[in-house]
Amino acid sequence: MQITFTLTVVAAAALLGLGFAKGRRRLALSRAKHRSLAGHSRIAKWLARQVPGYAYDETRFFGCDGAPPEVQQARREGLRTLAEQFAQRHATTLAMTRQARQALPDLALTGSYRVPFQFSPELRRHLTVGAFLRAADGMWVEDADGQRLIDLTGSYGVNLFGVDFYKSCIAEAGETASRLGPVLGAYHPCVLDNLERLQRISGHPAVSFHMSGTEAVMQAVRLARYHTGRRYLVRFSGAYHGWWEDVQPGPGNPMPPRETYTLADMDERTLHVLRTRDDIACVLVNPVQAMHPNRNAPADSALVATRHGAAFDRAAYKGWLQRLREVCSERGIVFILDEVFVGFRLAPGGAQQYFGVQADLVTYGKTLGGGLPVGVVCGHEWLMQRHREDRPADLCFARGTFNAHPYVMAAMNVFLQRLETPAVQARYVGLDERWNARAEQLNRQLEQVGVPVRVAAMSTIWTVQFLQPSRYHWMLQFYLRAHGLALSWVGTGRLIFGLHFGDAEFGEVCDRFVAAALQMRADGWWWLDPARDAARLERDWRHKLLLEMLRARLPWWPVRAPPRGGQPAAAAPGTPDAPGARGAVNA
Ligand SMILES: Cc1ncc(COP(=O)(O)O)c(C=O)c1O
Repeated sequence: MQITFTLTVVAAAALLGLGFAKGRRRLALSRAKHRSLAGHSRIAKWLARQVPGYAYDETRFFGCDGAPPEVQQARREGLRTLAEQFAQRHATTLAMTRQARQALPDLALTGSYRVPFQFSPELRRHLTVGAFLRAADGMWVEDADGQRLIDLTGSYGVNLFGVDFYKSCIAEAGETASRLGPVLGAYHPCVLDNLERLQRISGHPAVSFHMSGTEAVMQAVRLARYHTGRRYLVRFSGAYHGWWEDVQPGPGNPMPPRETYTLADMDERTLHVLRTRDDIACVLVNPVQAMHPNRNAPADSALVATRHGAAFDRAAYKGWLQRLREVCSERGIVFILDEVFVGFRLAPGGAQQYFGVQADLVTYGKTLGGGLPVGVVCGHEWLMQRHREDRPADLCFARGTFNAHPYVMAAMNVFLQRLETPAVQARYVGLDERWNARAEQLNRQLEQVGVPVRVAAMSTIWTVQFLQPSRYHWMLQFYLRAHGLALSWVGTGRLIFGLHFGDAEFGEVCDRFVAAALQMRADGWWWLDPARDAARLERDWRHKLLLEMLRARLPWWPVRAPPRGGQPAAAAPGTPDAPGARGAVNA
């Protein structure tokens, strides 16, 4: 009896202790989440589903910031002029874009989310951005009407050395691979040279080839889980790693987060979680987050009442990566550096070289394919193994029909060979200094003319910043286009330059940029009520936006009278902005 009683007490105490320890670990995990929505995938997803589709009518489109009638009129005129210019200069390209829009949901998505969704339908009645190009050379792209624009999209980061570089990589690759042709499964001999060069660059002995950056990351995470026997992946708030389930647990993914912890970047509490949990297989880092830790990649669709914010502190981020590295080593957690975007852009040896940190697994992609689609993982031999001699049936399967495609391997080979030439190596000399000085140069010009715009740089990766609140910053992308600067669909949030931009080319970008900003200011989009405090104004706008959404979501709810400028207008049924449609991107 006495024994039974003692055993029961011991068991209860053990259970209590276990529960307490579990509770503490749970609390530590919650505390390591960034306080923004980017740190709370489930809540962000839920909220994204609640955002109602609604659109501004014409009056509200031009006056939602309370601008006086004459300013609204200037905006109307400005938009009309832009629309006429676009229609005249790009008629064929725009007709092709309209034709493709219905059949290409991708195009419909990017078209709708170039700007905050409330403005999108009215804007589209006036302005469309052409989605077709027929030629490119140097820093230029040419649309189907023969209009030439300076390309600041960087082809999502692929274009590091100029389009002509990649054209010749592909042409040479075609010759190299043509005798074999698209025979898959076996390797083209050039793969041996690729392996050797990638081993040197990554500092790792083992390599695997994939078809995209997304797949490379999938493979790296799968290998980490296989070899550690643990389930959880740690990623940082706001970081992009492709569009696959586990690395995109928030809005945009219909599935709820599962084996992913999204933790705060550059935060002690994250290190505490890594030190104290036993279920973490790997930590995944996208170094571009150094520019905007804990925030999503900036996009104009999110410029609802405020500005993009960014600042790059190389030393601070380097210190953070080194501490992460140490904790991962202590805890047997696989440290994965996802260099799909920044690899080869910051330094010839990639982010590992640039930040002085050695990862367990490194993923590459984009530019490494020499212009063709690719994903690569490099890592320790033991981590890259996909089978066990002692457990022959326990595999980590990863194959793909087109992996190591001869043409891709040959283009990669040209890329890697050229990377080591003195001419290409020379382009990296003083890279950051050059691009920092260029950012300063443009900022000086912008300051001199008194427009509320600046840029922030992480080497050749730039983002536009705004110095004052406005509901219309997103209009800048259209003025830039009118002045011959092509941005990707995320707009002013990300400008990507290549190392081929010389001083003269950059000077041309500056002149056009300044002219665009001046025209936008002249057209009244940056009007600001001089009597209002900027910080309060921003808060008020956010508050108003919330009310607008509530009103659109709960039309029966007796909220106060509609804001100045008219009722929320219904979008055309069936459009992404129609009531009931999801406005996930802006949430
Ligand atoms: C850091 C990072 N990882 C992965 C990916 C996905 O690469 P892909 O678009 O080739 O699938 C991207 C794409 O932008 C990226 O920036």
